[in-house]
Amino acid sequence: MAEVTDAGWGFPSVPEGATPARYFRDVLGNFPTGVVVVTAPGREGEPLAMVVGSFSSVSLDPPMVMFLADRASSTFPKIRDAGHFTVNVLAADQVGLCRSMAGRGPDRFRGVTWSPSSTGAPVLDGIVARVDCTMDQVVEAGDHFLALGAVQDLRVVSSKLPLLFFRGEYGAFGPHASALPDWSLGWG
Ligand SMILES: Cc1cc2nc3c(=O)[nH]c(=O)nc-3n(C[C@H](O)[C@H](O)[C@H](O)COP(=O)(O)O)c2cc1C
Repeated sequence: MAEVTDAGWGFPSVPEGATPARYFRDVLGNFPTGVVVVTAPGREGEPLAMVVGSFSSVSLDPPMVMFLADRASSTFPKIRDAGHFTVNVLAADQVGLCRSMAGRGPDRFRGVTWSPSSTGAPVLDGIVARVDCTMDQVVEAGDHFLALGAVQDLRVVSSKLPLLFFRGEYGAFGPHASALPDWSLGWG
C-alpha cells in the first residue's frame, strides 16, 4: 500500500487519538464487498493474480466493469500490460485461497488449481462466476488506479454462495428470506 500521510485531512468527526487514515478505513469497512481475484497471463505466460474487493459492475450498454488497484501494487502494471483480464468471483468456502492469493511473492499459485481462459488468463477452480474483459481505460484516482474493463464474455460457474468482506472479516451472504419468522418459532 502507498505511504499515507495524515497531513491536510480535515474530517470533523475523527475521534481524538485516532488517525484520519485509520478512521477513513474503519468507517468505510462498514460497507460490505464481495471478493474477486483478477487474473491475467504475464509476459512469459506466467499466471498473474491480485485479490480485489473494489470490483463493481459499471455499464450495461456497453457492458463494462471496474476495479481499483493500489498504485503500490506490483501486479497491476503487469495486468495492465497484458491488456485483458479475468475476474474470478470467489466462493464463501475459498477464504484460504483468498488469504494465500493476497500474500506477496511468487507462491501465490502454489497448490491452486486453475485452467487458462481462451486468452490465457487463469480461471480458478471452485469460483462462483467469471467475467472476461479487455482493459478499456485506466484512470488515475488518488492513490489508486481505476481500471475499466470491457466485458467480452461472462458466466456463472457454480451455485455456491460468494465470499463477502465486512469490517475486516470474511463471511457469507444470509438472505432475510431464509431467516425463520418469529411466529414459526412460537415467539410471535
Ligand atoms: C479482501 C481484500 C481486498 C482487497 N482489495 C484490493 C483492491 O480492491 N485493490 C487493490 O489494489 N488491492 C486490494 N487488496 C490487496 C491485494 O490483494 C494485494 O495485497 C496487493 O495486490 C499486493 O500485491 P501486489 O504487489 O502483488 O499487487 C485486497 C486484499 C484483500 C485481502
